[in-house]
Parts: sequence; structure tokens; C-alpha cells
Amino acid sequence: MAHAAPFDREIARNVIAALKHLPGATLPILHALQDRFGYVDADAVPLIADALNLSRAEIHGVVSFYHDFRDAPAGDHVVKLCRAEACQSMGCRDLERHAEARLGVAMGATRADGRATLEAVYCLGNCALSPAVMIDGELYGRVDAARFDELIDELGVGR
Ligand code: FES
Repeated sequence: MAHAAPFDREIARNVIAALKHLPGATLPILHALQDRFGYVDADAVPLIADALNLSRAEIHGVVSFYHDFRDAPAGDHVVKLCRAEACQSMGCRDLERHAEARLGVAMGATRADGRATLEAVYCLGNCALSPAVMIDGELYGRVDAARFDELIDELGVGR
């Protein structure tokens, strides 16, 4: 995955200015900032709050409520494991533990070498083929530990 541009307050201001007139502008602004920078920088929160006449706590609450938003840059590869009901019934918790061990990083974190980020998602719409995994935007179904290792090996992410 290509690295997004580094956070820049002026660019963030422009993004916010372009979208702040939309109804319910918070979500479109957050999505646009994450698309631009790969995450929502903490410095963007007061800019959004000022532009929308909302409190910083309200904006921060939206960022933390939606699992799609990151508050730090992602690694080179983003590995998402589904944690919703169908995948739970097919053993996604075991797969999580395996993934954490294989990648050497906890759920919700990025490896120290920046090679991979491991995240939970709550349904990828692939419930019939659970447990479901998404790697760099590609969806995979019925992923067991062995298949997970194959997929990670293909990325060339070391241990
Ligand atoms: S519950 Fe995992 S893909 Fe729907």
C-alpha cells in the first residue's frame, strides 16, 4: 500500500472548507481527511470543530466511534479481521490470536517496523464465507491459520 501524504494543516483546512457546508459534514470531512492522509491527525480535530461549531469532544467521539477511522498512520499493509457474529461463530477469535502472533502486533496496532497494521472490522459482508479477512482492500473468505500465513507470506511481511 502506498503511503499517504504527511499531515498538513493547510491542506486539512482546505478539505474542511470544501465540505463543511454539507449536511452532516463531520463524516464526509473525516473520510476525506483519512483518504488524503491515511488517518485523522489529532491536529485536525480542533480545525473540524471550529469549522462546524462543534466541540472537540464531539469530533473526537465520532473518530473513536467509527472503526473505519485511524488516529495514526497505517503500516505498509493493512490486515483487517472480521469480528462480527458470523465470523465469531466460525472461530475468528482464534484467528485473531494467530494473526497477532504471526505478525507480532496486537489488534488495533501497527508493527514497530511499519510493515503491517492489524485491525478489527465488524462485518465485511462476507458472512457466508467466514471467517473473513481483508488485506489491503482484498477480501478473503474461510481463512484459517494456514491460509492466513500463506496470505501474509505473499506480502513478504517478515516476522
Ligand atoms: S460477520 Fe464477518 S463478514 Fe459478516
